[in-house]
Amino acid sequence: MVTKTQQPEVNIGLVGHVDHGKTTLVQALSGSWTDQHSEEMKRGISIRLGYADATFRRCPGMDEPECYTVEEECENGEPSERIRTVSFVDAPGHETLMATMLSGAALMDGAVLVVSATEDVPQAQTEEHLMALDIIGIENVVIAQNKVDLVDRDRAVENYQQIQEFVEGTVAEDAPIVPVSAQQGVNLDLLINAIEDEIPTPERSDSDDARMFVARSFDINRPGTTWGNLSGGVVGGSLVDGTLDVDDEIELRPGREVEEGGQSEWQPITTTVRSLQAGSEMLDTATPGGLLGVGTGLDPSYTKGDALAGQVAGTPGTLPPTRNAFEMDVDLLERVVGGEDEIEEISTGEPLMLTVGTATTVGAVTSAREGECEVSLKRPVCAAEGAKIAINRRVGARWRLIGIGTLAE
Ligand code: GTP
Repeated sequence: MVTKTQQPEVNIGLVGHVDHGKTTLVQALSGSWTDQHSEEMKRGISIRLGYADATFRRCPGMDEPECYTVEEECENGEPSERIRTVSFVDAPGHETLMATMLSGAALMDGAVLVVSATEDVPQAQTEEHLMALDIIGIENVVIAQNKVDLVDRDRAVENYQQIQEFVEGTVAEDAPIVPVSAQQGVNLDLLINAIEDEIPTPERSDSDDARMFVARSFDINRPGTTWGNLSGGVVGGSLVDGTLDVDDEIELRPGREVEEGGQSEWQPITTTVRSLQAGSEMLDTATPGGLLGVGTGLDPSYTKGDALAGQVAGTPGTLPPTRNAFEMDVDLLERVVGGEDEIEEISTGEPLMLTVGTATTVGAVTSAREGECEVSLKRPVCAAEGAKIAINRRVGARWRLIGIGTLAE
């Protein structure tokens, strides 16, 4: 059984343009400790919850940044000391890339923006992802300038300057830019040093009431499992407050859609925590940080195929209300990300795609005034007053981020 301190304690988003090296970087940072062959990994829980956990370590007696490593043995043969375990968050699957990234952003305490030195800056998702970090207010950012092994010195410097110019005026303005080669393992010590400096473990409240954002949900039973051998449904996500123990009761909201007399209604679900898994380890008690798989007593048909993704789980009676409609204060971006077009005011009747916590839902605008609007949701969300909402509008064939809302009472 693992002790509490080995649970990942901070969630770090890994964002950036396709093929710029996010997966390769996480593999390089995960070192050799990840138990690829445990039963849990085979079932895919850990894998599907995010990229991976990484334990940052320090070699005693060595200077910064050379002292930082992910290996258990230092170059001089001495054992390294564990600093902390971090969880790299991949955004959970949703219908569009931007929604995916935004719903993952709710779980991020900081982010590493990966930018390839081989291409001009910014590429489309480099810009979109940075804009999303900016408006959601993820302030602890480190930039990894990757693939420096593929360019000469002049090109690396030119690209570095492009990155500096590009992040001016954004949340990443003062973020360190660390040249690395994820594939060749170059400068990983410097990158760990920057992450240790810029992305601290957040302070949590000392409330005992658990609150967890659910990002995924699964049925882990293999097809054909007999009834008596069925495991209960699993929900995956991140505990953002409180603690969870095995045998605790939890409530999930909005819960389940129930039809009654031709009317449909969402009812909270209550269940028991049967197991807790962080990375590939089983826990008795889970604390905030990292990605958590919670085995429950639920019928696995409730959790199958991400059916509960976007819900909030926690101590019964303490969760925010379920809302079928809400009013929000609206802050629009000046222009569409990646384009020159100005963003028009939101109008009554238009559909919007809204990301609230890990939930993504479509809403119709029922009333709009400058700076605020009311929406009626297709699928309800569980959210507290003051929650941040990413607002997307349909432009051509896809949803575009146009601004941020704050849930009003
Ligand atoms: P998506 O998950 O598709 O968004 O891509 P990604 O950002 O995770 O990129 P991935 O890690 O899959 O890397 C894309 C390609 O670039 C792979 O072929 C990697 O081997 C290669 N690559 C990644 N980092 C480096 C690097 O530092 N140097 C070199 N030479 N190649 C790299």
